[in-house]
Amino acid sequence: MSSPLRIGVIGWGLRGNLAALAHRPDEGVELVALADPNPAAQAAFLERFPSASVTADYQDFIADKMDAVFVTSPDWLHEEQAATLLCAGVAVYLEKPMAITTEGCDRILRAAVNGGSKLFVGHNMRHFGVVRKMKEWIDEGRIGEVKAAWCRHFVSYGGDAYFRDWHADRSKSTGLLLQKGAHDIDVIHWLCGGYSETVSAFGDLSVYGDIQDRQAKEGEIKVAFRKTWPPKSLDKLNPVVDVEDINMMLMKLDNGVLASYQQCHFAPDAWRNYTVIGTEGRIENFGDSPGSSVIRLWNQNHQKFAEHGDLEFEVPLATGGHGGADEQIVGEFLDYLRTGTTSVTSPIAARQSVAAGVAATQSVRSGGQTVQVPQIAPELLKHFG
Ligand SMILES: NC(=O)c1ccc[n+]([C@@H]2O[C@H](COP(=O)([O-])OP(=O)(O)OC[C@H]3O[C@@H](n4cnc5c(N)ncnc54)[C@H](O)[C@@H]3O)[C@@H](O)[C@H]2O)c1
Repeated sequence: MSSPLRIGVIGWGLRGNLAALAHRPDEGVELVALADPNPAAQAAFLERFPSASVTADYQDFIADKMDAVFVTSPDWLHEEQAATLLCAGVAVYLEKPMAITTEGCDRILRAAVNGGSKLFVGHNMRHFGVVRKMKEWIDEGRIGEVKAAWCRHFVSYGGDAYFRDWHADRSKSTGLLLQKGAHDIDVIHWLCGGYSETVSAFGDLSVYGDIQDRQAKEGEIKVAFRKTWPPKSLDKLNPVVDVEDINMMLMKLDNGVLASYQQCHFAPDAWRNYTVIGTEGRIENFGDSPGSSVIRLWNQNHQKFAEHGDLEFEVPLATGGHGGADEQIVGEFLDYLRTGTTSVTSPIAARQSVAAGVAATQSVRSGGQTVQVPQIAPELLKHFG
């Protein structure tokens, strides 16, 4: 029997739960080490995996010859950590967003090429039941040729999740249009079959900027997203708060599709509402959780609002992290490690969502100008297919 795959984890915060899904001793895969400078995170990891080792420095993983590493650290560390490991020949599961700059993404892609290493980026939204069904209907031609898409993203927990730690500091996240929006920009690209070429956006720090209490405690482990209501009663914000809490982005894709993404971090509810319109119909989701959401298709002509459309699909109940998407994506990563199987996620798509999010953030901060999304180098495109 071959020796087990030895997996390391960088960063045991909220997203440690994802890496833990890879611990499958019965399948010959074991989480054996954590790199995290926070003693509380180290202690929590050892409690769960008592025979594992802990370190503050992820570079120990290279000397220890890990087979693969989950990079689930904060966004601004992704570039350095992933590029170093990939250059050293270590396979990497990298959480989204790939990096906080487009150049950072390209450095990571080049490191994977130079190190001959496997790179997998964790865009788990492509595994959401609601997104998969919409993609299926589009691929079946049910709305004809896609021409336009909208996503309205309501984030009720935005204050607690993103304004009380590093997410609120643009030097560490670039901004929430990238940080949170990377998921949706990627989904829009996927559903519409193209990548953003030109973008423009408006945004503002319109609610949380007024809150004076900036006494967040460094190093506290987030246990779950608290949900303070109303948003203005939020306390203990990060000392630096310079990212937007509302963003509205327009995109022109390289296949001519027009799309928009609207994100609000002080909404009373939490869900994403997508609609995609083609030459022969429209689809839209109402709710996005498995077991309590529906997708509707309109593909006949209606003279007025037709509530239930021409076809409805109830998204079935599914259990697990992010409605089972986390288990699926970790399984795909392990298959990729063991057999090289390709995934519905792709490092190129991950780079393109960051590139669009960064360009849109530049637009927000320059008064809404249109910004060209930097092209990806042809040799990188060729390598990753
Ligand atoms: N795909 C998803 O659905 C999803 C959901 C949540 C978060 N994320 C992503 O996962 C990543 C982690 O997010 P989180 O919410 O778990 O963050 P977090 O702040 O809760 O945890 C980050 C952990 O990294 C550790 N850390 C800090 N500096 C480090 C260093 N130099 N080396 C090693 N570890 C270090 C911290 O001590 C902490 O334990 C982010 O990139 C985020 O965007 C993805």
